Amino acid sequence: MLIAQISDTHIKQSGSLAYGRVDTERMLRDCVAHVMTQNPLPDVVVITGDLVDFGQAQEYELLKDCLAPLTLPLLLIAGNHDERQNFRQVFSEERWAHLHQHPEFVQYAVTLGELRFIGLDTLIPFEGGGMLCEKRLAWLDETLAASKQPTVILMHHAPFLTGIVHMDAIGLSGRAAFAEVVAKHPHVCRILCGHLHRPIQACVAGVMASTAPSPAHQVLLGLLPDTPDSFVMEPPGYQLHLWREGQMVSHQVVLGDFAGPYPFREDGQLIQ
Ligand SMILES: [Fe+2]
Ligand SMILES: [Fe+2]
Repeated sequence: MLIAQISDTHIKQSGSLAYGRVDTERMLRDCVAHVMTQNPLPDVVVITGDLVDFGQAQEYELLKDCLAPLTLPLLLIAGNHDERQNFRQVFSEERWAHLHQHPEFVQYAVTLGELRFIGLDTLIPFEGGGMLCEKRLAWLDETLAASKQPTVILMHHAPFLTGIVHMDAIGLSGRAAFAEVVAKHPHVCRILCGHLHRPIQACVAGVMASTAPSPAHQVLLGLLPDTPDSFVMEPPGYQLHLWREGQMVSHQVVLGDFAGPYPFREDGQLIQ
């Protein structure tokens, strides 16, 4: 089973640039077109939050239009730039949108092929940081207990500190309690996150947790405490997670025009 993960699409109203510089709409359209060139095609596309930039209904409508060429099952979760009501309304036709069990939180569980996917809502309205409160974690615990199928958790804020100090400052509260819940359920096979706008991996309760790059702007990699809160236009990308023989293997796809591919061999001989 092949999962494509896109994250932090930050769609704005048509014609507006994110932070006055980034054409997130064009970059997402390029990413979507690239996903559809994959062979084999992914079995599902997950988008791990910060779907739009200001939580506005028009932004979600434009996002929906950008995603229309994806003729694949699609799972979306909210990030700190999202707004639950507008998000739910515009994507109300999606199957997962009917599966959230809280009136407050956009959380759902859906089975696709061999895997179960649990979407978590780490949003705190109007704040950059995220939270998993007791109610959300109790739901996660119950939902994980309901099926022993291998399960991928989708959540916007990462459940680990990254060392990028300004991002850790708007990280996830409730990390330790989340790790305790995950530790109780050994069928959690992967935790896929966003928010960091770059690929980072860490082990949480014995499970690989990771963040994905954005198809638009990336957060500056800076591990010093005084690294400025800034972004860079490093090559954008998305990830492909391959579930095979009980193991998840993850690949980074870099978007852009690059030379190659070139052969290693000519007439069966390594090129010297
Ligand atoms: Fe983001
Ligand atoms: Fe975020």
